[in-house]
Amino acid sequence: MIGFQAACKINLYLRVLGKRDDGFHDLDTLFQQINVVDDLLWNPGDEPLSLEVKGAQLGPVGDNLIVRAFQRVNRELDTPVGGQMVVTKRIPIGGGLGGGSANAGATLGAINRYLGDRFSRDELVRFAADLGSDVPFFIEGGCQRGRGRGERLEIAVPPHGTPNFGCLVLPPFGISTAEVFRNLVVEAHSKPELGDNDLFETALAVEPRLRALDAELRPLAVGPWFMSGSGSTMVHLGAPLDCDLSTTARRLGCMVVPFQFL
Ligand code: C5P
Repeated sequence: MIGFQAACKINLYLRVLGKRDDGFHDLDTLFQQINVVDDLLWNPGDEPLSLEVKGAQLGPVGDNLIVRAFQRVNRELDTPVGGQMVVTKRIPIGGGLGGGSANAGATLGAINRYLGDRFSRDELVRFAADLGSDVPFFIEGGCQRGRGRGERLEIAVPPHGTPNFGCLVLPPFGISTAEVFRNLVVEAHSKPELGDNDLFETALAVEPRLRALDAELRPLAVGPWFMSGSGSTMVHLGAPLDCDLSTTARRLGCMVVPFQFL
């Protein structure tokens, strides 16, 4: 049995630079991994992977990014790897935290260690990019600046003075990444700062409940307050779990999860 964890991310800023010919958008974003994790337990074998998901309803297993990570690696191998995997989900789904992508990145890493580091970091990043825009970040994690679709990565540090802890505020609804990008009007951009998110206004337009929530909570923020990814997760940096914002957020039906940067 091989046990490993998949830690999710927040975007400390997210700039959209323009729409590309392939339908994706060019980004400039600062990813920061945090200690909100899923647990994975893998019993390697040569039969096709069977996946059990605990703690969440995730839709068809065949679409799962863990299964797709195995399929992607097996395209490179003469003898395919598989076996049984159990994932215990704690990362909220549909929230802009990259939970599925984190599972995929961690799984690629685990398979590669099992194979005696057969693939280089660059090869793993290439496999990851085939699985989704956010997956390459999770090959190394930590804090990285992502450009292109998010797959052109460099190690980075958070802006000076950024608190390295806070709370996630998880609304009782998610937002579809594809729908936000579909409705986005790309505007001129300035130098990104902590908490900037070019998807925020569009997310508010797509999901009026997020606009109402933000209007109520923003005045209570004691530190930076911003949306992660395409939402609906909001981030409150430097805030203790028992602050007014957290209490009000819970009353409004949100889940509040404390975190630290990894
Ligand atoms: O790559 P991923 O499956 O995470 O992206 C989901 C959707 O978000 C894409 O189908 C695309 O419409 C949009 N997207 C985008 N530009 C990006 C990342 C995602 O337009 N850089």
